[in-house]
Amino acid sequence: MAEKLRIGVLGSGKGSNLQSIIDNVAAGKIPVKIACVVSDVEEAYILERARKHGIEAIYIPPGKHKTKLDAESEAQYVKCLKDRGVGLGVLAGFMRMLKEPFIEAFPNRIINIHPSLLPAFRGLEAWKQALDYGVRYTGCTVHFIEMGMDTGPIIMQAVVEVKDDDTPETLHQRIQVQEHRIYPEVIRLIAEGRVAVKGRKVIVR
Ligand code: GAR
Repeated sequence: MAEKLRIGVLGSGKGSNLQSIIDNVAAGKIPVKIACVVSDVEEAYILERARKHGIEAIYIPPGKHKTKLDAESEAQYVKCLKDRGVGLGVLAGFMRMLKEPFIEAFPNRIINIHPSLLPAFRGLEAWKQALDYGVRYTGCTVHFIEMGMDTGPIIMQAVVEVKDDDTPETLHQRIQVQEHRIYPEVIRLIAEGRVAVKGRKVIVR
């Protein structure tokens, strides 16, 4: 039997998306092996979740920058994933931008989940940006990473209706329900070799 695709999950926060991936893998719904979980935040709960499930959890200090990794740190992230045979990088609430060395080491092999319907509301707290703007619908987007913030080819999106009495928290909660549905689905499609990138477009067979 062919070797399973090995994924490396990167996150900075509570790791609810990691949990949904773990649950789907455990249920036999996604043919991947979670090789490691890596964080730029030593006390992030995402690392704890990984340990609880017997997955290698690794903290790699990000260096002195706030929104990206230092060059040496970025090289360590790449080496960490390569050493573990990772074929797909999965950003799950990883709050730093990746630069060329990382992206070139994994061309069209890093995906991200973003809590809005891109290209609307790139950047931080996208659910709050949507609420403040007054849109009726927002959602979440899974896309490939390229240079530029939240700009890569879009693989899948899910729509969430904004309610009149939504707070940032209630809206984010409903967006996360959709995230936990579509992120494992995209990983499954990629693991099954059904996703191809043609310029800006992603073709799903
Ligand atoms: C998710 O809502 C994800 O879309 C968002 O961070 C949250 C992480 O939640 N990512 C971004 O905003 C990236 N620009 P989690 O730690 O519970 O998976």
